[in-house]
Amino acid sequence: MPMLILGIESTCDETAAAVVADGVRVLSSTITSQVQLHEKFRGVVPEIASRAHIENILPVINQALESAHCRLQEIDAFAIAHRPGLIGSLLVGVTAAKTLAWTCAKPLIAVDHVHAHLYSVNLQPADDQQTSLVEPASPPALPAVGLVVSGGHTALYHLKSWTDVTLIGSTIDDAVGEAYDKVAAILGLSYPGGPIIDQLAQQGDPNAIRFPRSLLGRNSLDFSFSGLKTSVLYHVRGHKGRQRDASSLSQQEINNVAASFQSACIDVIIKKLLRARKQVGARSIVIGGGVSANRGLRSALAGLDIPVHLPAPAYCTDNAAMTAGLGYLLHNLGQHAALDLDAIPFSQFAAP
Ligand code: KG4
Ligand code: ZN
Repeated sequence: MPMLILGIESTCDETAAAVVADGVRVLSSTITSQVQLHEKFRGVVPEIASRAHIENILPVINQALESAHCRLQEIDAFAIAHRPGLIGSLLVGVTAAKTLAWTCAKPLIAVDHVHAHLYSVNLQPADDQQTSLVEPASPPALPAVGLVVSGGHTALYHLKSWTDVTLIGSTIDDAVGEAYDKVAAILGLSYPGGPIIDQLAQQGDPNAIRFPRSLLGRNSLDFSFSGLKTSVLYHVRGHKGRQRDASSLSQQEINNVAASFQSACIDVIIKKLLRARKQVGARSIVIGGGVSANRGLRSALAGLDIPVHLPAPAYCTDNAAMTAGLGYLLHNLGQHAALDLDAIPFSQFAAP
């Protein structure tokens, strides 16, 4: 009999639930996005997010069970992404997971959301989307360099095993996805901006504008994207006495800004990955998070001489299948949480 884990995700603005068999086979992955609620604010409003989670959580869990053709009584354990995230949002998922674990008398498993983004490369989708750039069927060779690039996180990890993960670098200001969203706002585009900039960049010239690439120290594995974002702002608005906004740019100029910004982000990410690979002696690279869906990044990664593992597109952005998948490994290690589990806004991994 396969081991069935129900995963729950409510760390930010997606309410999600999934049923995963034996840690890899995704039987269902239900996601309710709140994009429409936050769009007009060009970013996530925490209070609106937590209220929407309360409305969505039960229908999403029911839908995940229904799509997996599975009854609640058949679930072996409940995995919850309890850190990091928006505290009001986290509390909704944590409360639902505790209630289910208690009423069904099944184990509760606490999962770190960022760590789960890395694990997402192992998920086997219901369809046959490619999960690896090298050999779709082969699991990543460890130790690996892990990179999570999302709206809330930009961090590098030394991945010795899926449950032995050390933070080796992170952003000192904006996350890369956040920079994408802010640049999209500067360009007058809608939210979330990442996929739109990715799209426009295909028609732009990446060499049109030389935006800065912030590498910090010589051996630094940290990131900084705020200077790049400000540089885009100055380029679009003009310097003192030359105030304008994106409406004065032609479509081609906007495409060029998108392509040049994306090229700066990708150059920095690739450089940091190669530095990290050298420092930890990695045998592969594992990447997760919303920005890992980026087409420009994916094609730059395809040129590297090391196996690169990426999630199937459906598991790049926030989802609960990755929570259930990593929850399975923790379950097998007997790492169960007590019913007084806290929702924690910050990440589990401390810098060495
Ligand atoms: O992982 P995720 O769903 O949420 C967080 O944990 O933050 O990532 C969302 C982020 C947003 O900033 C969005 O703009 C970005 O991922 N994103 C992309 C693309 N698709 C989503 N950024 C660049 N290119 C994309 N194709
Ligand atoms: Zn995320």
